[in-house]
Amino acid sequence: MGLFGDKTASWFQRGNRVLVNGVSSGFRYWGDDATVVIERGQGAYIFDMDGKRYIDYHLGFGPVILGHGHPAVAAAVAEAAGEGTTFAMTTRREIEAAEKVKEAVGYIEAMRFTNTGTEATLHAIRLARAATGREVIVKFEGAYHGAHDYVLFSTSGAVVSHLGSRRSPLPLQSSSGIPEAVRAMVRTVPFNDLDAMELLLRTDGHHVAALLVEPMLGNFFGLVPQPGYLEGLRRLADEHGCLLIFDEVKTGFRVALGGAEELFGVSPDLGTFAKAMGNGFPVAAVGGRQAVMDVWAGGGVTQAGTYSGNALSAAAAAATIDVLATGEPYAAIEKTGSALLDGLVRICADHGVPAQGVGHPSMVGLFLGEAPPRDFRDVVNHDEDLYGRVVMGMIRRGVFPVDDAREPMFLSAAHTDEDIATTLTAFEDALVEELG
Ligand SMILES: Cc1ncc(COP(=O)(O)O)c(C=O)c1O
Repeated sequence: MGLFGDKTASWFQRGNRVLVNGVSSGFRYWGDDATVVIERGQGAYIFDMDGKRYIDYHLGFGPVILGHGHPAVAAAVAEAAGEGTTFAMTTRREIEAAEKVKEAVGYIEAMRFTNTGTEATLHAIRLARAATGREVIVKFEGAYHGAHDYVLFSTSGAVVSHLGSRRSPLPLQSSSGIPEAVRAMVRTVPFNDLDAMELLLRTDGHHVAALLVEPMLGNFFGLVPQPGYLEGLRRLADEHGCLLIFDEVKTGFRVALGGAEELFGVSPDLGTFAKAMGNGFPVAAVGGRQAVMDVWAGGGVTQAGTYSGNALSAAAAAATIDVLATGEPYAAIEKTGSALLDGLVRICADHGVPAQGVGHPSMVGLFLGEAPPRDFRDVVNHDEDLYGRVVMGMIRRGVFPVDDAREPMFLSAAHTDEDIATTLTAFEDALVEELG
């Protein structure tokens, strides 16, 4: 029997005749009998083609921080749509949205919009290379920064035993089709390991344009930096003349209005934003210190995009940030997310399953192991098999976490205390079923 109902399965078959594997992004395909087709979303819920309702902790891999179809965002976008969407010229809405982004994020002195996180990291990397005259980018094992060639190395699907030693990590292509020559421009290091970073920069620092870091590993349980770690990266970047880039595609506007800087008190040179900034509309940005952003102003460094700053995305971002700036969504998520995290860990303890709560109330990671993970390599101590089976049991019971056993669950301001209680019951029932 498939994971979803008959109508959903038949819509998948129909989709499969026109879309490769029935999807528009490879991560969405879970197999011919387990790929969902969604009819609509409302608040904290999504509905499949059978009309079955799920409490949604996938939230499109994180963007939908206010809940699906939020009225203020929908109204702003509808109004903009009636007035023309794409001019490939600067618009009033784009300027208004940029002012709100700048006001929210302390380290943004100047910025430009893009459409996706992938574009944002691509442009941030090119900008960093142009600003420093160097080519190498350092990224962290287990971090995902989008689907372009320069960052698809040692991402969270990597096999740990293939990553090489900590002192000399091997950057592993996460996809066929990435030229071998690109690998020479990428170094990978374990997160939360300043010694490894120091060693790399001591030997190779003069080639490094930027350290590209997710301040919390949003694709790996929402893992947080150890105290002093981001400060250490800041210091090392300064000592070696490279830029520090925070990829805030997941943390931005999610963990706090001011993103990781507000949470951890460390400022990068550049940041990339997307996801929660537009509550699910395709809007992204690169922003940072004026001196670095001015490299674009000087010309000769290409940043472009027909749809960048389009009216719909700008309207969505402005409306989303207005709601987030009231602080109410963050207060709600703090409460429900903490209750979820505590509840998951407690239920595991009740049933003798070793578990660690990881992440943040807005990004809840449950690591099924004896000790908290410090970096991606610790994934070998996580019971992925049990976690994956429990997630399938939750989906059958109407609760939708991200299926990937290494991803956190995302919270929105629309989740209620009752949703959390229902979720914990579904989790416990699924766990008990799997434990036999
Ligand atoms: C941290 C991070 N950076 C970049 C991206 C790429 O964003 P997009 O899927 O919008 O291209 C993602 C996507 O999940 C992400 O999590």
